[in-house]
Amino acid sequence: MVKIAPSILSADFAYLADEIKKIEVAGADWVHIDVMDGFFVPNLTFGAPVVKKIRKVTDLFFDCHLMVENPEKYISDFKAAGADQIVVHVEATKHLHRCIQQIKAEGMKAGVALNPATSLTTVEEILPYVDMVLLMTVNPGFGGQSFIESMVPKVARLHQMIEERGLQVDIQVDGGINAQTAPLVKAAGATVLVAGSYVYGAQDVAQAIASLKD
Ligand code: DX5
Ligand code: ZN
Repeated sequence: MVKIAPSILSADFAYLADEIKKIEVAGADWVHIDVMDGFFVPNLTFGAPVVKKIRKVTDLFFDCHLMVENPEKYISDFKAAGADQIVVHVEATKHLHRCIQQIKAEGMKAGVALNPATSLTTVEEILPYVDMVLLMTVNPGFGGQSFIESMVPKVARLHQMIEERGLQVDIQVDGGINAQTAPLVKAAGATVLVAGSYVYGAQDVAQAIASLKD
């Protein structure tokens, strides 16, 4: 069964605790937390202090997507704040293997993320060490962008790479996921769907989450 990870990037930050409870009761599997530094991506969001505060309101799995340069600098802060998984971009660190080891050593799950134009060859060597690969289906930085259709065959190729190696690695997709695009990525092998504007923009959040799972 595919897991749904609503992104709080599209939540109303003035009511963050309520917004997280809303997705919890609506059947979300994970909380997707988009951390942006204004350097790796042209936008800013929040950091570990906010994660620490929202840790008090839910037991849901915290999936932290670090869109920051040199993510290794923040790993222990996110662990202390209550992160369950940290996902770093292959484009953002010079020492990806060391960074993944650091995340694992802190007792968290580890993932790597790829921008749309980054080749799957960049994850070939790290694949045996990670729990998840995140394929961006938009250019990172903002919610509410349109899904890049050419990412569907990329999901399928990653699925094949994982199968060929006999590995257990989740494939997450992030950006432009809604009831129309979800079936395409699921058919290609995605196992975790991030959705921000589709879930938080819905009148009926439970129905929106269910529509992604169907
Ligand atoms: C984009 C973020 C996404 C974003 C997705 O940089 O990584 O997680 O919240 O938003 P939607 O689902 O609206 O495309
Ligand atoms: Zn994200």
